Amino acid sequence: MNLDQIKATITTVPDYPKPGIQFRDVTTLMQHDAAFKACIHHLAARFDDLKVDKVAGTEARGFVFGAPLAMALSVGFVPIRKANKLPRAVIRQEYELEYGKDMLELHRDAVQPGDRILLIDDLLATGGTMLATAALVRQLGGVVEDAGFVVDLPALGGRARLQEAGIRCHTLCQFE
Ligand code: PRP
Ligand code: ADE
Repeated sequence: MNLDQIKATITTVPDYPKPGIQFRDVTTLMQHDAAFKACIHHLAARFDDLKVDKVAGTEARGFVFGAPLAMALSVGFVPIRKANKLPRAVIRQEYELEYGKDMLELHRDAVQPGDRILLIDDLLATGGTMLATAALVRQLGGVVEDAGFVVDLPALGGRARLQEAGIRCHTLCQFE
């Protein structure tokens, strides 16, 4: 499947979770066998040359794309979780969302100094989630240069914010 065909499997839900938000629902992509497989295949082809040490995925939808991508790249997977979900020593980072505030945590032993970490989430909106994710990885000495997403919402300016933080964004499709 090409990128346009993958994009066509994503559903738009108006006014969710708040009035005025056009929610881009990737669950319809995930449940489409060929689209999901093609999506991971396209991401793996983009990142194969980077030779990263690990993939980090951000809860919750970043897990769905990050874990199979890590397997495709033959590297380990690091979960970045919402507050109070990880059982051992963590570092934490608060961040702002398109529609609220939240907190992310990372196990202190999940990243070693110098590890090259590829960051993955389903969707780039304001970039706040991915900036918080990168801040956590960098706090442990991880090297972050690239972030991958299935969907980009360019109107929300995430790509520029991440670029200012030294992070290249790779996205499979855009919704204006
Ligand atoms: C969504 C999405 C990204 C983030 C993008 O997650 O999966 O993680 O928002 O927005 P941003 O670029 O403005 O930060 P959400 O916080 O809704 O959590 P979920 O994956 O647990 O549903
Ligand atoms: N996360 C932040 N904004 C979003 C949107 N418009 N659709 C889906 N997930 C989102």
